[in-house]
Amino acid sequence: MGKTTDAKQNFERLLDRMQPMVEQALKRYAWPSTSAPARLVEAMNYSLKAGGKRLRPMLVFAACEAVGGDISEAMPVAAAFELVHTYSLIHDDLPAMDDDDLRRGMPTCHKAFDEATAILAGDAMNTYAFQAILEGVSDPVKAGAAALELARAAGLEGMVGGQMADLESEGAAADIERLRYIHAHKTGALITAAVVCGGIVGGADGAVLSRLRRYGQQVGLAFQVVDDILDETATAEQLGKSPGKDSAANKMTYPRVMGLEAATKHAHELVESALAELKGLAKAEALGVIAAYFVARTH
Ligand code: IPE
Ligand code: IPE
Ligand code: MG
Ligand code: MG
Ligand code: MG
Repeated sequence: MGKTTDAKQNFERLLDRMQPMVEQALKRYAWPSTSAPARLVEAMNYSLKAGGKRLRPMLVFAACEAVGGDISEAMPVAAAFELVHTYSLIHDDLPAMDDDDLRRGMPTCHKAFDEATAILAGDAMNTYAFQAILEGVSDPVKAGAAALELARAAGLEGMVGGQMADLESEGAAADIERLRYIHAHKTGALITAAVVCGGIVGGADGAVLSRLRRYGQQVGLAFQVVDDILDETATAEQLGKSPGKDSAANKMTYPRVMGLEAATKHAHELVESALAELKGLAKAEALGVIAAYFVARTH
């Protein structure tokens, strides 16, 4: 209990420090005011401004900081990750996927607008993310490397592949290997890439990037294990989304396959091994705080 309270307080302090950076990044790189159809821009802004914990941009900043990098180079990358993440939520909530009505405490994008607009808002955010990186990161080598990392994590071999496996596994017999694949891809891949990209724009060498990648893989998986747990144990008020949807859809989840207690223990073990990866990094405090929060969070 004491440990959980500490983790939450440390996170609150980090949030106080990082929230202005995140908002600045989003304001500059993620909230378009263009001559594109107003309804589309409105839908994008609606889902982005609905809130959300902004954990992926925080991870970009925390990793950049851990390697002693320049935070201004991380700004467009931080925005890009929130864009891709928010697009993934809009599409995840569509009737053809998880069919959800509530997200970030508000009606889902397709409920507030319509399905076609929600699909296009997601599409536009996905591509705008790459535009933000390629236009915004001043060093073209770093921009290219970060864009490639994000593309790999978000697409076929990452999040999109994981989302397909998630849908195909509804109602399937429990299979821990398959479950690990789903979670590492649908959620872990983007979280891992946020950490790695923070390192890339921060100027990390290959050995440090490998360390950051291993940290990201462990916390990324832990994050989705906890998401599954919260779906069973938290309220709509806490989550800002409807709980109980996983069992209703017969999703393959960690609590379903292992039981709640073993799933909780597993998430903690993953975070412990992630923290061990940070030992060689001088300024990794923020990464440590975020990892601890991933298993202490209640929303
Ligand atoms: C929810 O992610 C979807 C998953 C990948 C588990 P978050 O819990 O980070 O959602 P927001 O950004 O805070 O709304
Ligand atoms: C979502 O997993 C993963 C992505 C959006 C890529 P979930 O379907 O469990 O996320 P929530 O619970 O709806 O936020
Ligand atoms: Mg889903
Ligand atoms: Mg969902
Ligand atoms: Mg979930």
